[in-house]
Amino acid sequence: ALARSGPVHTAELPNGLEVLVTTLGLDATRSLLNDSRLSKDAAGLRAAMQDQLARKGRPTDLSRIIGPSMLNTDPPHHRKLRALVSQAFTSRRVEALRPAVERTAAEMVAALPADADLIAGLAFPLPLAVICDLLGVPVEDRERLHEWTSAMMTERPELVVPASDAMVGYLAGLIEYKRDQPDDALLSGLVQAQVDGDRLTPEELLTTAILLIVAGHETTTGLIGNAAVALLATPGAWTALNTDTVGAAIEETARWDSPVRVTPHYRAVADIDLPGGGAIPEGAVVMISLGTAGRDQEVHGPTADWFDPTRAPASGNAALGHATFGHGVHYCLGHHLARIEARAALMALRERYPNARLAVDPADLERGDKVVTNTFATVPARLEP
Ligand code: HEM
Repeated sequence: ALARSGPVHTAELPNGLEVLVTTLGLDATRSLLNDSRLSKDAAGLRAAMQDQLARKGRPTDLSRIIGPSMLNTDPPHHRKLRALVSQAFTSRRVEALRPAVERTAAEMVAALPADADLIAGLAFPLPLAVICDLLGVPVEDRERLHEWTSAMMTERPELVVPASDAMVGYLAGLIEYKRDQPDDALLSGLVQAQVDGDRLTPEELLTTAILLIVAGHETTTGLIGNAAVALLATPGAWTALNTDTVGAAIEETARWDSPVRVTPHYRAVADIDLPGGGAIPEGAVVMISLGTAGRDQEVHGPTADWFDPTRAPASGNAALGHATFGHGVHYCLGHHLARIEARAALMALRERYPNARLAVDPADLERGDKVVTNTFATVPARLEP
């Protein structure tokens, strides 16, 4: 419905902030994601958001929430941060995780009861275990990280502030520990990374670690959970799932039921006219809808609103007719890892439970209440070998 109500509308977030949400077709979404008139700069964003909240009589300190990670930095500084993180987050390091991800997924699936919740038993814990393994977070601390991440994603200040304080304190300690006792996990890699003599500052290290945990967690839970539901609810789709078809099924899920509804905030630093009418005024805080971009009928034709796991890639390139991982300078750094995780989770479940089915009508499944992520709260399934 959003896609047809014009390309830009206003929404109020749970913290009282008014944002403009754009709902454009795929090409226009991509060009907006790559438009230098939309800034991510942390200081500018914070000021714009805090001014607005203060005017509404809801003064809020956002300094702990929007820090200078690469996601909240513009070029040219963004390039330095991304290069430093990419040096530690290489595709070789990510690809090397594949066997461990598959093993963890198989163990989690083996531990599922016959009446299982696919979110609590698989889609949620797998990405958390993977990102903790990758960073080198001790096993006993993972549950706490989950609670903080979850609270931060609600965008409710009373939950966000204590959770981010707790996470900041915890990770600052862990970074110090890794400085003294380096291991071969990513956090130690980030501590040591150097590009042209530059290193990450302590604040950048901290916000990067937080970004990796937050960005890599619920998003991937959403991709796994949304794919499981779509495949189990579509006649014949679960049976047809195999190592050759799973890649296309994952892309179709990303397109049709994007685990990221809208991007995190951007700030307009100039007026922007949108194709098809509508405009973004300078100073506006903007979120760009990714979910609607994947439903573009000009790209996907009259069946754009159907889930078809065999749909051929519309655009013939790696972007596959959706913008679910973003576009341009902030294109998701973890997209390859997310796809490895989704493939491992779905194939582990399919191999062990070819007769799996949803235990409730998919229309009755509840979605979480997050602004950015689009995930099911629970997915009850009946698992019979
Ligand atoms: C950026 C989506 C998984 C790390 C982004 C952006 C999107 C996105 C849309 C751009 C946001 C913007 O333009 O404001 C997703 C989805 C995922 C996923 C849908 C899972 C299905 C991951 C994972 C990691 C990760 C597993 C890391 C472990 C990042 C980072 C950025 C990012 C570091 C910031 C890149 C930059 O600013 O240059 N992601 N993501 N993501 N993502 Fe992901």
